[in-house]
Amino acid sequence: MTIDELDTPTLLLDLDALERNLDRMADQIARMPAKLRPHAKTHKTAIIARMQLERGAIGVCAAKLAEAEVLADGGVPDILITSELVGAPKLERLIALARRVRLTIVVDGIAVAQPIAQAAVAGAVRLRTLVDVNVGQNRAGVDPGEPAVALGRFVAAAPGLALAGLQGYEGHLQHVAAAPARAAADATALELLRGTAAAFRAAGLSTEIVTTGGTGTSRFAASFAGITDVQPGSYAVMDAQYGAVHELDYQYALTVLSTVISVRGSTAVLDAGYKSLSDDAGPPRLLAGGAGFSFAGDEFGKLSAAAGQPFAVGDKVRLIPGHCDTTINLHDEYVVHRGQTICDRWTIAARGKSR
Ligand SMILES: Cc1ncc(COP(=O)(O)O)c(C=O)c1O
Repeated sequence: MTIDELDTPTLLLDLDALERNLDRMADQIARMPAKLRPHAKTHKTAIIARMQLERGAIGVCAAKLAEAEVLADGGVPDILITSELVGAPKLERLIALARRVRLTIVVDGIAVAQPIAQAAVAGAVRLRTLVDVNVGQNRAGVDPGEPAVALGRFVAAAPGLALAGLQGYEGHLQHVAAAPARAAADATALELLRGTAAAFRAAGLSTEIVTTGGTGTSRFAASFAGITDVQPGSYAVMDAQYGAVHELDYQYALTVLSTVISVRGSTAVLDAGYKSLSDDAGPPRLLAGGAGFSFAGDEFGKLSAAAGQPFAVGDKVRLIPGHCDTTINLHDEYVVHRGQTICDRWTIAARGKSR
């Protein structure tokens, strides 16, 4: 079967581009002091996580407990959950998961750590735990320096928890377009993390793991002394938002195939809208051709044809999503292709797994 024969809307995954992206990041980080611990929140499938492990990743990250469960079911043996886990319904599942994989979690306060520690004691497990430090994103994370050290002391002393180091994700810098500006801002964030790691060591606390970095900053973070591993996610498939970030050199592996279902003058109406393409990072871009996309409803998009390139009903177009993570989360499967030929279908097993 070829791409032209597919029904639409369909999430396509270009296997050549995916493999090239995975190879490129693996090769780049292999030449640097830090290791690669890619984030599976983007692709949401153990199939791609295993491809990353085969290329030398030391483990993978998940954003949610349910994502981690799916990865564990798919044979991923080492998982870092990078978001705080709060609430009684999660604790039993967390302990069960810790019994079957090498699991690491993050905490940014005693209110998060205490119930987990109690559940771990009750479940007779010790949970490897990182102190999550706010290095400028102002999302989760304890303040760097003394507040982080105080939390580190709490974790180190808590029965049921085993302090394993620090996380300090600089998510606010990933899409700074110009590489020199991104590198300079990242150095400031990384310095906060390094300084806090130094304070941990001075207090006799573990800094076995000092983890940070996304697609936009991993190359800076992985060569910054004291960072042990980086956690990029989007590089595997890319999106239009990252396409505007300079000096990344990853290929678009992800597109949504859509059909023109109506034409009015120079405007084509597509069968893909908000239910097939996320809009949180702006509209998708056409893979080929200059027509601009605008959302026209849950099930509809519009394309304005470039002069001299009219659309006809039945035409198919490929759209590069504005944001890969949130678009992937809308689909049940990747239709995997090399060139025009369909070679596989991969279930997106963690799609919708947000608990
Ligand atoms: C904690 C954390 N680490 C890593 C990543 C990966 O970032 P990216 O997809 O930009 O590479 C994310 C993405 O949101 C994240 O939240």
